[in-house]
Amino acid sequence: MQEIIQRIQELKTANNAVILAHNYVRGEVQDIADFVGDSLALSIQAKKVQAPVIVFCGVRFMAETAKILSPDSEVLLPAPDAGCPMADMADPKEVIKYREAHPEAVFVAYVNTTAAVKALVDICCTSANADKVLRTIPADREVLFLPDQNLGANTAAKLGRKLALWPGFCPTHNRIHPDEVRRIKAQYPNAKLLVHPECLPAVVELADAALSTGGMVKYVKESDAQEFIIGTENGILHQLALQNPDKRLYPLEPLPTCPNMKKVTLENLLHALETHETKVELPKELMDRARLPIERMLEIA
Ligand code: 13P
Ligand code: SF4
Repeated sequence: MQEIIQRIQELKTANNAVILAHNYVRGEVQDIADFVGDSLALSIQAKKVQAPVIVFCGVRFMAETAKILSPDSEVLLPAPDAGCPMADMADPKEVIKYREAHPEAVFVAYVNTTAAVKALVDICCTSANADKVLRTIPADREVLFLPDQNLGANTAAKLGRKLALWPGFCPTHNRIHPDEVRRIKAQYPNAKLLVHPECLPAVVELADAALSTGGMVKYVKESDAQEFIIGTENGILHQLALQNPDKRLYPLEPLPTCPNMKKVTLENLLHALETHETKVELPKELMDRARLPIERMLEIA
């Protein structure tokens, strides 16, 4: 492993590359990254770094977002088959059909969408800013939120606003059962329960806070509490433990895992830097259209 790490570092320097990693990827991949964060922080970072090569350790829609925001950079996706089943639940043809049937509606897309869908919507959001983005839309406007019905429902409840919800979900978070959450809460009554807003509303209702992965990292760091139940994908436990060695972290059972995030390995990261074979390529016209809703979100965030 040490040899691979050394080779990645050499090629990183030789290529003037920056490595970005999502909080859910394997610990050893997080450790070699220049920046680890949530979807929003990674989008901001992708735009800011202006590196000739960005290696994006995450899933495809994230690397696409980085490419759209930094079209002059080469964006490498070490695991080119790392998709997001939730993003695939919003088919561009279906989105066009809905748009035609609801010409007055404002379309708000979670960043967990393909570039083709982003090109069809008015504004994007992430789990860190969905409420902020929705607050900018006049209360009398009809809103379609896609593709995550749970993030949509949880944000609608928070804002006391009615939203039309696309029937998509994250299989990893949707599987987290309220009974398991009640069980672990009873086991650790002093622990703060943090969950991701991609969880079912019945799970979010039990939590002390529903936060993006970046929000969880901040919460655990700043809280006076010593124990936390972590209701999201297990990769974040690595980052939380690293930053809070004295705090106790309790994962759910079974351990929530996103198989796509786990496809990124040190081996395919090295392969990406060696061969440059796994670059994200999108038509310029599509990127130009998809950039608008992302930029609108970034202005608000
Ligand atoms: P955040 O890191 O933005 O909270 O997103 C979670 C997620 O599911 C990414 O796929
Ligand atoms: Fe998609 Fe869920 Fe995996 Fe995030 S955790 S990439 S939303 S499947």
